[in-house]
Amino acid sequence: MVRVLFVCLGNICRSPMAEAVFMHKVKAAGLEDRIEADSAGTGHWHIGHPPHEGTLRVLEKNRIEWSHRARRISQEDLDKFDYILTMDEENLANVRGMGPARATVRPFMEYAPHTGYLEVPDPYYTGKFDAVYRLVEEASDGLLVAIRREHGL
Ligand code: 4NP
Repeated sequence: MVRVLFVCLGNICRSPMAEAVFMHKVKAAGLEDRIEADSAGTGHWHIGHPPHEGTLRVLEKNRIEWSHRARRISQEDLDKFDYILTMDEENLANVRGMGPARATVRPFMEYAPHTGYLEVPDPYYTGKFDAVYRLVEEASDGLLVAIRREHGL
């Protein structure tokens, strides 16, 4: 099983959206028995909460299933997952600061270089959930292509 963890700050806006969108694509490709995804936050404020209503609205609009409750990234995650994909530079620095990881730790947007975005802007402050959805979709496509290539799937 290839395990992917999406990481943002609160684990209620960007990373649960990425988890749901990516898994939607994994299921469409018939690979749900080979690839699994989860998400986590570096912050603790929203532990146990469902995604933000802005994220839920976007997921519902695009008919994408979700089932996540916010959790904080743990030390065990660094070795349990194959890919840990961060939404912005702050998340990346925080995850790298947790110590050595078995996982490949890198920015999620590196899987969509053509967008020109290096980070997924935080919609918690801007309300721009549709723009985040477009970026998450592009990077999810690139990530799935990369995982299929790297793991011969
Ligand atoms: P997220 O957005 O990292 O994409 O889930 C945020 C959610 C909550 C907070 C910040 C960002 N917060 O400060 O509570």
